[in-house]
Amino acid sequence: MGHPIKRKEDARFIQGKGNYVDDIKLPGMLYMDIVRSPYAYAKIKNINAEEALKVPGVVAVVTGKDLEQYNLHWMPTLMSDTQMVLPTDTVMYQSQEVAAVIATSRYAARDGKEAVMVDYEPMQAVVDPYKALEPEAPVLRSDKEGRTNNHIWHWEAGNKEETEKVFAGADVVVSEHMHIPRIHVASIETCGCVADYDKVNNHLTMYMTTQAPHAIRTVIALVAGHVGLTEEKVRVISPDIGGGFGGKVPVYPGYVIAIAVSFLVGKPVKWIEDRSENLQADSFARDYHITAEMAGTKEGKILATRFKILADHGYTDAAANPSKFPTGLFSIGTGSYDYGASFMEADAVYTNKPPGGVAYRCSFRVTEAVHAIERITDRFATEIGKDPADLRMENFIKKEDFPWKSPTGWEYDSGDYHAGLQKAMDAIDYEGLRKEQVEKRERGELMGIGISTFTEIVGAGPSKDFDILGIKMFDSAEIRVHPTGKAIARFGTKSQGQGHETTYAQIVAEELGIPAEHIQIEEGDTDTAPYGLGTYASRSTPTAGAAAAIAARKLRDKARKIAAYLLEVSEEDLEWEPGKFFVKGAPEKAKTIQEIVFAAYTNHPQGMEAGFEATHYYDPPNLTFPSGAYICVVDIDSETYEIKVRRFVAIDDCGNIINPMIVQGQVHGGLTQGLAPAMYEELIYDEDGNILNGTLMDYLVPTAVESPNWETGHTITPSPHHPIGAKGVGESPTVGAPPAIANAIVDALSVYGITHMDIPITPYKIFKTLKEKGVIE
Ligand code: CDP
Repeated sequence: MGHPIKRKEDARFIQGKGNYVDDIKLPGMLYMDIVRSPYAYAKIKNINAEEALKVPGVVAVVTGKDLEQYNLHWMPTLMSDTQMVLPTDTVMYQSQEVAAVIATSRYAARDGKEAVMVDYEPMQAVVDPYKALEPEAPVLRSDKEGRTNNHIWHWEAGNKEETEKVFAGADVVVSEHMHIPRIHVASIETCGCVADYDKVNNHLTMYMTTQAPHAIRTVIALVAGHVGLTEEKVRVISPDIGGGFGGKVPVYPGYVIAIAVSFLVGKPVKWIEDRSENLQADSFARDYHITAEMAGTKEGKILATRFKILADHGYTDAAANPSKFPTGLFSIGTGSYDYGASFMEADAVYTNKPPGGVAYRCSFRVTEAVHAIERITDRFATEIGKDPADLRMENFIKKEDFPWKSPTGWEYDSGDYHAGLQKAMDAIDYEGLRKEQVEKRERGELMGIGISTFTEIVGAGPSKDFDILGIKMFDSAEIRVHPTGKAIARFGTKSQGQGHETTYAQIVAEELGIPAEHIQIEEGDTDTAPYGLGTYASRSTPTAGAAAAIAARKLRDKARKIAAYLLEVSEEDLEWEPGKFFVKGAPEKAKTIQEIVFAAYTNHPQGMEAGFEATHYYDPPNLTFPSGAYICVVDIDSETYEIKVRRFVAIDDCGNIINPMIVQGQVHGGLTQGLAPAMYEELIYDEDGNILNGTLMDYLVPTAVESPNWETGHTITPSPHHPIGAKGVGESPTVGAPPAIANAIVDALSVYGITHMDIPITPYKIFKTLKEKGVIE
């Protein structure tokens, strides 16, 4: 009786050895498949499950009406909006979950799903976010009392009056409208879970693909506490999840339905999405329509920026942003430049598309912000006829001016933007390339050079400003050193392939002098790890990495006391070198960390607490502000418009580097994920809300074949407030690459008077644009 799997077996799933949710097989496990809507907006007239229930192996079909009896048919989103688990009367986007089929095998569940008959009454979908705001647009969220339109929220940052004054008096004002299109995280593994409710002990073990296990446990308790699943009765285990990139932060309906079914039938229930479901129905990223403007002098001094955004959130605001930041950290969009006036505003709107707004490898909305500022900076350079590298060099915030207060209220911690761009220019031979470009242009060849010099903002966050659903953002580390000097360290974050097992061990090793190979790292199990907000937005190093260093320092303080006792000297007489304390001036009188730890269990001073363990919950005093200087060179075939990224140099500055190989790996992968939206990826909907590229046959995820040879390097400007001077890095390349590529392509096409193109920029889009401009017939 009771729970079929005990801890020894569970531990298999948290060791980082390629154990995915889909590998989990539990006795009596049932499988779930989901019936999805073919319409983007429709009334559900009837769901007939009779034939489905006749399919051998099918045990149940669950609808919204079934969940309604337990008040589980709606759930909160991370932005405190509401989202259907299963609909009771209306579907709001194509591929929305309509019913769940539970069966004894995956195949039976799929057959059962095909046999469920649903009668719909289709309605005209609202797809265009601008049209959604028109007074005659149907009110999509009629479930919300008193709603009269589709507007969700308005947001502002910066100084409106001051900015308008500067714009009004400026020599030069440039403006571009940009759409940063809807894209989708395409992790190696899709989302999935095994919900295992143990009726005897009233306990739920939830194995799931989540980047934030603790926050999810709290959300489960908030949503299902009223039926008995209170927080102590819930254990969330996030094994190897096959990549996350922000897409595995939200709670998807499939997870909740699996929990509800397991709770009702008392058996484990597995749900694994297929590729198309993942692409069509899970949270999207981006989808910002931005008007970006820059004002400056004709000599090239940037004076002010202005950004106006329309954010398409689909049918519910399920963005994974901190509560106080509905546009994420878009307000970093003032960029790396020294000027004092900026104003930004955003409006969010409901449409008949899937919900989301996930921070796809990005600190909430930083990718959108960086694209806007880096594109408009190039636009300004073109307008005044200045080289974009010179314009940047002349306007950068100077190294000695940090900490620097941005017009939208951030305090940039440190940076050396001149050094970064210079290094990138030297590495790529910028001057040589410009000369080559002149020659090529004379021969009618299309060659472009694009720069992006971005400032990032990572490490959410200081708890005074940052929370998710009211839970303050901080992160944690717990270190236990065993008597023989070997350690286990556990964290509130959750690696999805970023190598925390290596880098966290390095931090503890560096601080305590215990070899990294003797430090076991664990994350992702709410029963064992200290509470934390998880891994996304490059926050692990700035938060949990810092917690590891401070927890280790607490242990070092204890080690000093024990060493003083063992060596019979005062603490002040001791000096530390990694791995041992020795007496000043008498280095042969020393105690190694292993001897000290052993004494903590066998021979510690009277009155001192035994053991050698420490925990730290780190609340960062500020975010960290990594930066980068990227330069891209493209050649465009003047007949087919095929775009070739000939060279791409990426110089990143993430402060002190813990592990150069991991950082380089992060940058390489991130650059390809930046190439993706610049040249390939976009989710496309027709006017009825049908997704036109809902499979990986049509949605073009670039691979190694499309990736150029990334040339990487770094500068190091330590963060002054982080305990080891590190800043986050994981998302910098995804954020910095798209504008560098777009700027290069636009630069190549500037010979035709082109000043802007929306990403993804494809050969066909170039062809169409040139045709529209009358350049070609
Ligand atoms: O939160 P996430 O792990 O995705 O991002 P991150 O904090 O930027 O770290 C990504 C990986 O790079 C981790 O393994 C970090 O420890 C490593 N890293 C590093 O070695 N040095 C840095 N200065 C920053 C990150």
